[in-house]
Amino acid sequence: MIEVNAEGLEIRDLSVSRGRTRILDSLPELRARRGELTALLGPNGAGKSTLLQAIAGLLPTDGELSLDGKRLNELSARQRAARIGYLPQLSEAGAMLEVFESLLLARRLAGHHDDDANLAHCEQLVEALTLAPLASQRLGQLSGGQRQRVAIAQALVREPTLLMLDEPTSALDLHFQLSVLEWLSREAREHQRVVIVALHDLSLAARHAAHVWLLHTGRLVACGSPREVLTPARLREVYAIEARVEWPQDGSPPAIIALHAL
Ligand SMILES: Nc1ncnc2c1ncn2[C@@H]1O[C@H](COP(=O)(O)OP(=O)(O)OP(=O)(O)O)[C@@H](O)[C@H]1O
Ligand SMILES: [Mg+2]
Repeated sequence: MIEVNAEGLEIRDLSVSRGRTRILDSLPELRARRGELTALLGPNGAGKSTLLQAIAGLLPTDGELSLDGKRLNELSARQRAARIGYLPQLSEAGAMLEVFESLLLARRLAGHHDDDANLAHCEQLVEALTLAPLASQRLGQLSGGQRQRVAIAQALVREPTLLMLDEPTSALDLHFQLSVLEWLSREAREHQRVVIVALHDLSLAARHAAHVWLLHTGRLVACGSPREVLTPARLREVYAIEARVEWPQDGSPPAIIALHAL
């Protein structure tokens, strides 16, 4: 069911430390809207995973984080788990479970207790993510990319309001990189979820994200539409690359081609 409230995730003046080291420094006002895919970009060590972990409630934070106007730190662990789906970078799933079982389990853990509905929902998801041929295989027997697709399904099967995926396409072949991102943006749009995806592939981000947050050394460098944010000058400054950025007039997808490292 589509919800009319479209507030989404709001961040205000957020700092995050690990031990005594401040990793993210006063991120200003940022919003990820319902119905949109937001790409979280930045070079290695910029703080992308730290930000997602902080939003998921896995790290202490200073500042404000709210979802649809409700402060996240006022939610119980159970409420938070029901609303937020988080796929960590390079997640290792429990090896002995079968793919289909693992989806049912993730759904029950998120508080969905109607077994018939759970079965139907998992079957739909297996179909949508082309997981049917793997459904009764053990997780430990899958390839890296197959495991990554199952992990995406495990995050999604919970039907979270806010879905965060940390580099979900890093192990996927080109077909699945495209189809998973197409599917995630459709999932955002059709179910009015907030979807935040950390990515290194700038072309994929430009093509699929409505909105981009660009981090560099723990600070926000820019946010806005991919076209506004991903300019050659900014890619030079943040990624230390010379890049060609193409936004074709004929409506074909944008391309960001790294020419050489500086
Ligand atoms: N467990 C940890 N303990 C201490 N420092 C950490 C820890 N994890 C990450 N860091 C530091 O925090 C900073 C941000 O790391 P983070 O993992 O958030 O970057 P990232 O943008 O996700 O990078 P990548 O693209 O490589 O995944 C880095 O300087 C890193 O060294
Ligand atoms: Mg990371």
